[in-house]
Amino acid sequence: MEKIIDERKQGEALALERKASNTKKLFIESYGCQMNFSDSEVVASILANEGYNTTQNLEEADLVLVNTCSIREKAELTVRKRLEKYQAVKRKQNPTMKVGVLGCMAERLKSKFLEEEKIVDLVVGPDAYKDIPNLLSEVEEGRNAVNVILSKEETYGDIAPVRLQSNGVTAFISITRGCDNMCTFCVVPFTRGRERSRDPQSILEEAQDLASKGFKEITLLGQNVDSYLWYGGGLKKDFAKASEMEKATSVNFAQLMDMVATAQPKMRIRFSTSNPQDMTLDVIETMAKHKNICNYIHLPVQSGSDRILKLMNRQHTAQEYRTLIDNIKNLIPDIGISQDMITGFPTETEEDHKDTLALMEYVRYDYGFMFYYSERPGTMAERKMEDDIPLEVKKRRLQDVIDLQRDMSRENLKRYEGQTIEVLVERESKKNENEWSGRNDQNIVAVFPKGDYKMGDFVNVKINECTTGTLIGEAVGYAEYWQ
Ligand code: SAH
Ligand code: F3S
Repeated sequence: MEKIIDERKQGEALALERKASNTKKLFIESYGCQMNFSDSEVVASILANEGYNTTQNLEEADLVLVNTCSIREKAELTVRKRLEKYQAVKRKQNPTMKVGVLGCMAERLKSKFLEEEKIVDLVVGPDAYKDIPNLLSEVEEGRNAVNVILSKEETYGDIAPVRLQSNGVTAFISITRGCDNMCTFCVVPFTRGRERSRDPQSILEEAQDLASKGFKEITLLGQNVDSYLWYGGGLKKDFAKASEMEKATSVNFAQLMDMVATAQPKMRIRFSTSNPQDMTLDVIETMAKHKNICNYIHLPVQSGSDRILKLMNRQHTAQEYRTLIDNIKNLIPDIGISQDMITGFPTETEEDHKDTLALMEYVRYDYGFMFYYSERPGTMAERKMEDDIPLEVKKRRLQDVIDLQRDMSRENLKRYEGQTIEVLVERESKKNENEWSGRNDQNIVAVFPKGDYKMGDFVNVKINECTTGTLIGEAVGYAEYWQ
């Protein structure tokens, strides 16, 4: 007990000292999708203007922000665990720190968060980050503060993100926010609101800024990038209802990619995530046209059964998806494709499950993100369907899907043995400090001995062998195009 009081006193003294020197410290961490990581960079930028510097050290933070995910129950439980950790640090070492929750859980739970988690002072939804300075003044005056208003306009296009924990090589640029698709299992339309596209000019400027700072790869980010459509901002309109002027000056996703790829010919361009129903051939043609748009598509499908796809409100059949895959492979033969799958959606039968495995065999994905169904409060599936597949069945089917994907990934990697591929050096290999790690065009990780190469170099790597997820090789020179 005495020890705690001692530490508390030290903490208070430290807080006073910081106040005197007028530097405030922000600890910010993110869970969930890439968009959350990108949003945290926007938040760090907003708070930098308020005199906050980021810290990696909870014990010295004046403000702790956690950007949260609601996509599955497990994601929410992880965040609850983190809040317990903050509680412990606050009690023992940092009594004056304030704690805020951002992101999808903030939006979903709203002020209920304050009742459920006493540690929380501040609750801010994904469209209200510009209000954080005002909300903080309320918190400083001793009140809890909540803003979870969703916007039809906000894209944060006017904010230059502070790159957090950056490798200086790869970065995200967010291009759309929200989602209008209403898949019945998905909480995102409720937590992130309606879909909006960001001004292409501000996207080009951000890309240019990254290029001038030496970045080599950008990922254009949205819940559903293929439905990007700019004609002046606000909610997406029915194209037929747009004015002539709006139609003439509109920019769709294929055009946006073309603009970015043309403006930054020496930067790699990636994008995520594509939705099969919105992915058009002109997007694939644009990819084929530009060397610097990576030949990689993340194309979630969720299920291979038409009956389940319909219940999920996915707007395509398994056959339409196969046709899309055929078209992609025809236009870009060396394409890398990855999937998202959900097993155990309500009413899923063994037959439906087999359809999923059969679709996977057809596509032969390079990689996958696979989950068992987690019922989310407020979604159509939760309101209208019974979560009737027993957990052990969901898990067994998930294992089938994972096993099949692992076999296919391994087989796909084997095709690179003996080949030379272009790799962008992104980081040191986790397993060996004498090796670099990076990805090829198809988003596959490759490692090789460092030699004289540096972070950010494009290197030709000859592949000698592979593990289940990684290519292993040796550098044979710089990759010519990028020099
Ligand atoms: N378009 C989005 C998809 C967001 S959710 C994107 O940018 O990635 C990511 C993945 O989580 C989905 O593709 C789906 O496979 C999975 N997912 C979403 N809701 C889920 C739920 N209720 N249970 C299990 N998995 C879910
Ligand atoms: Fe969710 Fe479907 Fe949109 S998975 S993010 S509602 S495309």
